[in-house]
Formats: sequence, structure tokens, C-alpha cells
Amino acid sequence: MSVAVCPGSFDPVTYGHLDIVARAARLFDEVIVAIGVNVSKSRLFGPEERLEMMARACADIPGVRVEGFTGLVTTFCAEQGAQAIVKGLRSSSDFDYELPMAHMNQALTQVETVFLPTATGQSFVSSSLVKEVASFGGDVSAFLPDFVHEAVLAKLAARA
Ligand code: PNS
Repeated sequence: MSVAVCPGSFDPVTYGHLDIVARAARLFDEVIVAIGVNVSKSRLFGPEERLEMMARACADIPGVRVEGFTGLVTTFCAEQGAQAIVKGLRSSSDFDYELPMAHMNQALTQVETVFLPTATGQSFVSSSLVKEVASFGGDVSAFLPDFVHEAVLAKLAARA
């Protein structure tokens, strides 16, 4: 059985993430979306909130489950019996950022990283940009499921 892990912070999940997860689910028997912590990024949502939103967003994608993880993604992959990590690439700068991690993860446990090009219509969408634009009142509803958009607006309003 082929198992892949889609790791990320998903703060919050966007349609770009969901496109990658859905396409990964067509390539592997099982895809585990792994909600992790990126220590170099500030977060809008807590781990439980991000996990709940991702689980709801993926509920209709067959072969996908959502888990939280801490520690190394390679350890999580080994625990789950995953042979591959799937990452979306929007641009060459994503590639430059992801390639050393792919090499490191391969060196640690021989887990392979599979890169999928992001859907062309989503290539400029990131959680960070969505949060920034929304925080200044911009309309980001096209990039997120409705319930995620509402959660972003509520979280930003509570912080104001
Ligand atoms: O969506 P992000 O913020 O790019 O996700 C980054 C994440 C959480 C996938 C990455 O930081 C990660 O894998 N963290 C776990 C710790 C780890 O394994 N670090 C070494 C990577 S070579």
C-alpha cells in the first residue's frame, strides 16, 4: 500500500493546499495530511483549530486523513509507514526552499519527496499572503473555503 504524507502548517488551509492534497490522493492509496509547526512563522490559528479546519476541508476527498505531528516529519513518516512526502511547488523560490529539506529528509530515512506543481490559478496563493491581505481588509474569499474565510475574519476581528 502506498502512503504519502502532505506536511505543512496550513495556517490556514487554502484552495491551493486542497488542490495538492486531492491530486496526491489520486497518486497514493492513502494520503495523511500532517499538521505541523513551522518554528520560523508566526501563527494565526492553534494546532487544534488548524487540524479541525483541514479535516473538514478534506472530508470529501477519498483516501485522506488528517493528523497533527510534532518533531521531525521523517519520524512521523516512519511511524505512519509512509514512503513519500508530497509538497506543492508554486515557483522556483519554493523549489529552492524545499530542495534542501527533501535532501535532508532523504538522507535521514530515505523517504522520497514528490513535488507537484501548484494549479496555475493558485500559484500566487499562500497562507501568509492571505492573512496579510485579510488583515488590511482585502477580500480573500476566492482563495479559501467559506468556513475557513469566516474563521480568518473572526480571528482577525478578535485580535483587533
Ligand atoms: O507549510 P509550511 O510552514 O512550509 O510547513 C513546514 C513544515 C511544518 C512542513 C516543516 O517546517 C517541517 O517539516 N517541520 C517539522 C520539523 C522537521 O522535520 N524539520 C526538518 C525538515 S528537513
